[in-house]
Amino acid sequence: MAPAARGSVAVALALAALLALCSAGSDAPRGVALGFVFDPAAKCEPPCEHSGVCIRNDTCLCARGYEGETCQYANCDPKCKNGGVCLRPGKCRCPPGFGGRYCHKVTCDGGCWNGGECFAVNGVAKCICPSSWSGSKCQEATCPQGCRNGGVCVAPGICSCPEGWLGGACHTAVCSLPCLNGGKCVSPNKCRCRPPFSGQRCQERKKYN
Ligand SMILES: *[C@@H]1O[C@H](CO)[C@@H](O)[C@H](O)[C@H]1NC(C)=O
Repeated sequence: MAPAARGSVAVALALAALLALCSAGSDAPRGVALGFVFDPAAKCEPPCEHSGVCIRNDTCLCARGYEGETCQYANCDPKCKNGGVCLRPGKCRCPPGFGGRYCHKVTCDGGCWNGGECFAVNGVAKCICPSSWSGSKCQEATCPQGCRNGGVCVAPGICSCPEGWLGGACHTAVCSLPCLNGGKCVSPNKCRCRPPFSGQRCQERKKYN
């Protein structure tokens, strides 16, 4: 055997061993069967990508983690989840709302506040909020009693009331000077008087002739 030919056989054996190693532990499809013949003059057009070796005319032996006719596809193991795309072995590009090495984690853009938790709901990342909070990030407090008269819900069950109103739902008007003679404060500084009284504080008794 000529030295050059012996060299080729050695390379072929080394590649066969390499292929056997690469095949072990991977169930990914391979373009090449074991026991191939290595042709040192082989031409692959288009060329093998990602360090694939041209072993016969138009037949590539792919490096670990790649597959396809020209070894053009990266192969992620475990596979990319939730519609992620394998960019290179072990590296997935994840669709919005998913993260982690294999896109297996749900990430809610901006996070979930106030004890909310991020879940995939029908393939879409969503914050699931505790009962006292709402909004896409659980950023809005809920006031089950309602906030009336222009009040704003600032914390669960807590209304911030505009001036002139008090109470859990801002439902109580404030009259800075109290209403007299059984009059009732119905809006800020406004008394509703019982007859026969009138005036801003119900302080006047109407005259009947
Ligand atoms: C491979 O291709 C080249 C050129 O295209 C050709 O000359 C050669 O004979 C081919 N080899 C085999 C084993 O078919």
